Amino acid sequence: LKRVLSGIQPSGHLHIGNYFGMIKRAIEWQDKAQTLYFIADYHALTSIKDPQNLRQYVRKIAMAFLACGLDPIKSIFFRQSSIPEVHELAWILASITPFGLLERSHSFKDKIAKGLSPTLALFSYPVLMSADILLYQSEIIPVGQDQKQHLEIARDIAQKFNNTYGEVFRIPEPDIQEEVAVIPGIDGQKMSKSYNNTLEIFGDPQEFKRKVMSIKTDSTPIAAPKPIQGSILASLYKLVAQPSEYEEFIESMKKGGQGYAYYKKLLLEKLNAYFKPIRERYKELECNPGYVDEVLADGAYRARLISQETIRKVRQAVGLLD
Ligand code: TYM
Repeated sequence: LKRVLSGIQPSGHLHIGNYFGMIKRAIEWQDKAQTLYFIADYHALTSIKDPQNLRQYVRKIAMAFLACGLDPIKSIFFRQSSIPEVHELAWILASITPFGLLERSHSFKDKIAKGLSPTLALFSYPVLMSADILLYQSEIIPVGQDQKQHLEIARDIAQKFNNTYGEVFRIPEPDIQEEVAVIPGIDGQKMSKSYNNTLEIFGDPQEFKRKVMSIKTDSTPIAAPKPIQGSILASLYKLVAQPSEYEEFIESMKKGGQGYAYYKKLLLEKLNAYFKPIRERYKELECNPGYVDEVLADGAYRARLISQETIRKVRQAVGLLD
């Protein structure tokens, strides 16, 4: 069985970009591979400085992932910070990581541009991420397009390590699917918390509706045909509708006769129908905090069996162990 791994930062609510870009596909892997999924709480420290928020977000993202269909028997589901070996590995990897490799990180530059403080942790973010991946000898990493460069860095670091010390690591492959690689937000840019353009799955329903109704469109008159190319409405509708329903939707837009509000309402209904069972499971999980704790504790135990085996090999390879 292939080993599949991915992580998500607990940096607020789950949005539909996370869902279609990563979570949904991660869940599909459960029946075909050995899957490990984790909550990247160490990574979140680069942006969240309020301990109460961090605790709350970790819990929310855990419930969200479970509600979306993560099966804690099939998958190993854990918090990154439950596994101390990840830091030992990150240090060892940092010792062979060229500074220039990290200086080229788009994500670092973007985050600085958006006002995050340029800490050492933010700079070495991709090294910790490489450690996440390599510690579990992961082969396939389902992610959205924005993680592509991080995956390239992880591959470079793994290769550099193997060349320096002998074959220890498997070389991971990104699993990026073109149609869902970049889910647009309500303004047409990549959906992202830092652009404030997200549709949050488990947020307030009125707010969700308000945001869907404010999806950016052009000023085509009601009667006129609507452009499909670049239409955020059509892209989002496609994610949640049957192919035949999507065809009808775009045929109707091409024909004209309806204003954008009509299509936004159709989209809202479809989104709500799609996420209804997931939202219901989330509500149930909210009533059962003990269950979420148990799942994460069990996941940490199983993840640690793998991490300890890898770290022993790594220590041996670099000369920290006789
Ligand atoms: P994060 O928490 O920003 O996002 C989680 C996943 O959601 C994907 N995603 C999107 N996909 C398509 N369209 C969008 N608009 C969109 N927005 C977010 C992201 O690509 C990601 O797959 N660095 C990672 C967390 C991480 C990790 C890892 C991932 C830490 N260690 C090891 C894989 C392997 C991050 O911040 O993702």
